[in-house]
Amino acid sequence: MKWKESYVLGIAPMDATHQEFVDQVTALAAVADEAAILLMERFIAHTEAHFAQENQWMKASGFPPIHCHVGEHQRVIASLKSVLSMARRGKPGLTREMARDMESWFENHAATMDAALAAHLRHVQQIPGIC
Ligand SMILES: [Fe+2]
Ligand SMILES: [Fe+2]
Repeated sequence: MKWKESYVLGIAPMDATHQEFVDQVTALAAVADEAAILLMERFIAHTEAHFAQENQWMKASGFPPIHCHVGEHQRVIASLKSVLSMARRGKPGLTREMARDMESWFENHAATMDAALAAHLRHVQQIPGIC
């Protein structure tokens, strides 16, 4: 998965987290079966922190569609955890399929829900890392 300029949303800590997300998805798309579970565990931990940070920004700034965005985060974490449990039960190759699904998911999520959050943070002037 290649980083694209269109992924830059102008909120520095969000953009940095998204770059790490893209790096981890790229690694997972080509992971060897033996390393799949470990990488998947790290990816879930990273994604939980990523989503928790955005959820906290939404709450602190009064982001109107907070429930929609938080709900989407919850669905993704639940599906990542189910892939991990299937990988642990002898299907490590599912992590590579999941990584390909995550590419299109991220493309859409960044352009819609995260872009809306970034615009809202700028609008209310609650820009993390700046003030
Ligand atoms: Fe995000
Ligand atoms: Fe998000």
